[in-house]
Amino acid sequence: MKSTSSLIIIFAIGLFAFLGLTVNVQTSAAKGLLQDSVKTEKKEVKTETTEIDKKLANEGKGIFNSKCFACHKLDSRLVGPPLRNITKTLTQEYLTKYLLHTAEMQKTDPKLKKLIKEYNGILMPDQGLNKKQASAVIEYLRSVEK
Ligand code: HEC
Repeated sequence: MKSTSSLIIIFAIGLFAFLGLTVNVQTSAAKGLLQDSVKTEKKEVKTETTEIDKKLANEGKGIFNSKCFACHKLDSRLVGPPLRNITKTLTQEYLTKYLLHTAEMQKTDPKLKKLIKEYNGILMPDQGLNKKQASAVIEYLRSVEK
């Protein structure tokens, strides 16, 4: 009799430990997911509120027209996706990274892999921009947000 009740107690302790562990694993998985989405989705209030640098945006417009316009329109799909308001959904950090490390990102970023499929497997070629040119193009895209 005594041994049965201690077995029950041991079982109960085991069950609680197991449940505790499962809940813990689930919450950390949820946290991981949350962090992933923070990385790609726009979170920085800063870029939203900072004023447009008109000179930089103008420089970016020139770069956009010579290097991006063949494949991207602002409002409709061409070879690539429309780019108006892309600055609302993706962070400046992410966009800069894509423009500066295009091929590398295409291999590693799950979101881009999906996009490439959507765009018939066409890989956007690296446009060879430097950091300043990338930030100018992004500033231009910010300036045409609606
Ligand atoms: C030869 C055509 C071509 C040129 C030139 C080009 N792109 Fe692209 N771009 C694409 C295609 C196709 C995609 C979608 C598939 C991919 O990313 O490879 C894309 C995707 C993108 C994305 C990702 C959008 C998203 O939702 O994640 C951004 C941002 C972008 N291009 C910006 C630019 C900018 C800025 C330039 C000019 C500096 C440029 N592209 C030049 C074809 C091009």
